[in-house]
Amino acid sequence: DSDSRRVDPGPTPPAGIDDALTALRQIVGETNVLTDPDAMAGFLTDWTGRYRGAADAVVRPRTTDEVSRVVAECARSGVRICVQGGNTGLVGGSVPPARDGSTNALIVLSTVRMTDIGDVDTVGRCVGAQAGATVGAIDDRAGRSGLAFGIDLASRASATAGGVVSTNAGGTRMIRRGNARSQILGIEAVLADGSVLRRWTSLVKDNVGYDLPSLLAGSEGTLAVITRVLFTLVAPPAVATVAVAAVERVENAVELLGAASSAGLTVEAAELMTEAGVALVADHGHRRPTTAPGPFYVLVELSGTGDIESATTELLGATDGVIDAVLEPAPARALWAGREGHTEAIARSSSTPVVKLDISVPIRALPEAFAELSRVGVDDRFPCRPILFGHIGDGNIHVNLLDVPPEHATEVTESVFGIVTANGGSISAEHGIGRAKVAWTHLGRDATDLATMRTIKAALDPRGLLNPGVLFG
Ligand code: MLT
Ligand code: ZN
Repeated sequence: DSDSRRVDPGPTPPAGIDDALTALRQIVGETNVLTDPDAMAGFLTDWTGRYRGAADAVVRPRTTDEVSRVVAECARSGVRICVQGGNTGLVGGSVPPARDGSTNALIVLSTVRMTDIGDVDTVGRCVGAQAGATVGAIDDRAGRSGLAFGIDLASRASATAGGVVSTNAGGTRMIRRGNARSQILGIEAVLADGSVLRRWTSLVKDNVGYDLPSLLAGSEGTLAVITRVLFTLVAPPAVATVAVAAVERVENAVELLGAASSAGLTVEAAELMTEAGVALVADHGHRRPTTAPGPFYVLVELSGTGDIESATTELLGATDGVIDAVLEPAPARALWAGREGHTEAIARSSSTPVVKLDISVPIRALPEAFAELSRVGVDDRFPCRPILFGHIGDGNIHVNLLDVPPEHATEVTESVFGIVTANGGSISAEHGIGRAKVAWTHLGRDATDLATMRTIKAALDPRGLLNPGVLFG
């Protein structure tokens, strides 16, 4: 992936793009086709700064009809399309490839103007949102009707409906509500020829053939451009408590979750942190969660009936290895900020783009895998600082390797993946494959599985115009 990291101003635009741009301007309006390098810059670099690409234009449609006409024009003129939502993805999947010698032009299709959210159906508990509506805005809209969006993540202010669905994002509520795929009732998407696929029903049971919305979830923009999503909404718990405990061992955190369930409490979220991460976040302005430090910290949000605070205190008292703990009624934003501040604090503290590896292992293997992963890159060949955190209830560890000399990025990635596969885990728990992990999909899927995915891709996008270089090499 060293190529995709190089800043590429791009050679002379391929012949024929001018005609296509004229047509695109007629569809979305002059001001919504950006070609100025400064105006395009933010759309060509990912959040991590590790992936940069080149494009002939950034096109910002407003409606499904405009997306359909944009895609039809691209199909007619052979222009490739990189679909972009909030551009908060962490695997390079939402930015275009570097200019690769292809004679085909490429546009970024940004959903930034597609932010409409419909009325909440309080009986059917669902809401429709355009692809560019943010997770935060959808949750706010649901909240006004006493409901909540089942997806939440630290990037809620920027991450979009289309982005979380196309990457099948997980986030902090996954343990309780499932991933983005589980929140979908219906979907509207534009296929590679410009036709509109519409599966839009609030029916909970509807078994007429293939589940195409599920197929598009997690397809990372390679099969269609998602334009609208009908999301199921959830009833938030009446009362919940957030506790952060400093613990001696990862095992203690795992045991705490099991004990919470056995005690009849509902685990709404469960996050693991380390002293290295908490110290870094504290350096960036957040308060330390507990007075006494621990080598590890577990944040749990628990709900149930009765006196949740007393039940949580009792639970913490009965759990081995608890050094210190704090409790606050949900939403306990300050406690959550200490967890959610990790990504930014880590990004700001590394001298090189962080090698971010989002992996999962079976819960029973988690303590051992966590220990092994904490040692990756810690040797005398080159300096490298691992900081691990993650969604412990899902066996999902975010392995962040700081200060990795770029020429060693592949080496440390393979060390991590070696540990993951030896423990029966996945090389991508919730961030997807993007550009970052294309070379390693065989570690997660066998040959027949990969060939079937290629067959589906070839059937829906035979000319490879949608998100080239993402998911498939
Ligand atoms: C998170 O859990 O905060 C996100 O997945 C972001 C990250 O992994 O850095
Ligand atoms: Zn995460």
